[in-house]
Amino acid sequence: MNRLAEILSINTLQGDSDIPVLLAPMAGITDWAYRTPAEAQGCDAATTEMISAQGYIYAKRSLSNYQRLIARAPYEKPLSVQLFGHEPVYMGEAAHLLSNLQRYSCIDINMGCPARKVTSGGSGSALMRNEVLAGQVIASVVKGSLLPVSVKMRLGWDQDHINAVNLAKIAESEGAAFITVHGRTTAQQYSGHANWAAIAEVKQSVKIPVIANGDIADGASAVEALKTTKADGLAIGRASLGNPWVFRAVHSTIRGEVYTPPTGSERLKEAEKHARLLRAWLPEHRALLEMRKFYAWYIKGMRGAAECRTRINQASDFDEIQTVLSELQESNLEG
Ligand SMILES: Cc1cc2nc3c(=O)[nH]c(=O)nc-3n(C[C@H](O)[C@H](O)[C@H](O)COP(=O)(O)O)c2cc1C
Repeated sequence: MNRLAEILSINTLQGDSDIPVLLAPMAGITDWAYRTPAEAQGCDAATTEMISAQGYIYAKRSLSNYQRLIARAPYEKPLSVQLFGHEPVYMGEAAHLLSNLQRYSCIDINMGCPARKVTSGGSGSALMRNEVLAGQVIASVVKGSLLPVSVKMRLGWDQDHINAVNLAKIAESEGAAFITVHGRTTAQQYSGHANWAAIAEVKQSVKIPVIANGDIADGASAVEALKTTKADGLAIGRASLGNPWVFRAVHSTIRGEVYTPPTGSERLKEAEKHARLLRAWLPEHRALLEMRKFYAWYIKGMRGAAECRTRINQASDFDEIQTVLSELQESNLEG
């Protein structure tokens, strides 16, 4: 039995060689509407986008800003909620409050976000520069949480300060149940290639499960990442944008099955479904604004996509968008 699957109560694996394939957290993107198609296409578990521990605690009485970030649909697969912050007391208290909601499988600590507005306050990947504080944060979250705790990290701050192995050992000794490693440094942001060999070193240095993350884009790269890292699971972020089928592609390849990519009309149908979920949740105009980026991802690579994207961005309601998408479908008819 895959230990990671046990910790997260994942029951969707098929066969001994299958491993959990997770949706990586993406701020402003991975809400329940985004997770729904990913999970329908084989994503085994997901993580909310990062939530400020301190912000969540102070917003307790007016939770509306946070409702969407922390929402989970009843049919969803196992979900972790991700916290960012650097003060052990707040992190522990927020972990306690969120784990009490009884809707998550795990509390994940963000030690990988490279955004200046997060690191300048000492949170996200800045915690990797202060191993003592990082350890205190993990210990406090483990103490406050009623659920397993995981840590998501990068390789280190920059090429001269690679300390993922150290941090993984600290996480393990402070009681983390598993870790996710994005194979880049903070300085790299999203440039260059994820260093899977460095993730392999982390995997060899701890007994707790390790999830490999970074540049897993399809079945072939997933198999290569697994071969290099020997990780217990994989997490996919950007390759899932407009492409929830990537999870099926990865599982099929790992299981030795044939994967057939979606047709253009299947992609457009999925975009429509995604829009319906957002419209049921958000005021119409807000849903329209939010859907723009998702439409762009769903239609990427189709004939006429660039022009279609411009028209979608100018559309004032969903009927107009429907017309644009119908025309796109017409011009992309196979055969
Ligand atoms: C738009 C965007 C938002 C992200 N937000 C978060 C976040 O809230 N928390 C986090 O731990 N990582 C976040 N990440 C990093 C991803 O989880 C992942 O580690 C990174 O994109 C590498 O994986 P990939 O190559 O599969 O995309 C974000 C990445 C992107 C592109």
